[in-house]
Amino acid sequence: MPITLERGDITRSDADAIVNAANGSLLGGGGVDGAIHRAAGPGLLAECRGLGGCATGEAKLTGGHALPARFVIHTVGPVWRGGSDGEAELLASCHRRSIELAAEHGCASIAFPAISTGVYGYPVDRAAVVAVRAARAALERHPTVLDARFVLFDDRAFAAFERALE
Ligand code: APR
Repeated sequence: MPITLERGDITRSDADAIVNAANGSLLGGGGVDGAIHRAAGPGLLAECRGLGGCATGEAKLTGGHALPARFVIHTVGPVWRGGSDGEAELLASCHRRSIELAAEHGCASIAFPAISTGVYGYPVDRAAVVAVRAARAALERHPTVLDARFVLFDDRAFAAFERALE
């Protein structure tokens, strides 16, 4: 089963790579970005400082530092602006590029949060459909990544991803 759902805190995931819903500076923030930096320790921010930021829809990889995961893949999701500003394509790109990076670094498993559905305001039902579809397509192209998990932090997001998986 290539795509599974988990209810919980992504910083505790033992996936080879966990994905961070970052901002363009890659210098930390609130939400899952804040949680990942807190759990990884200061070494993660130090490594991120050298990356020169990240464009929306793009992804960059760092070590996992104090996290159980070997790697953190930092991706920047779109800010929701009503849906006609290319948000779906950018959100799909976050998932595609993250799985590409995971494959390039020999990761057999990857864990995603619900990218853009918090501070960035992307409606979670719509985000879930885009995320699941993009992850499925990318996993088909990168068979060495055997499993992708969506780690959902609240029941609403979990239910949205359950519906998207059907
Ligand atoms: N584990 C898993 N998911 C989490 C965790 C956690 N520990 N903490 C929060 N989340 C969930 C939120 O509930 C939401 O469903 O991650 C999802 C994404 O929400 P945000 O973290 O707000 O990310 P996003 O909407 O992509 O906004 C990114 O917020 O934190 C800043 O620096 C970040 O500027 C960037 C913006």
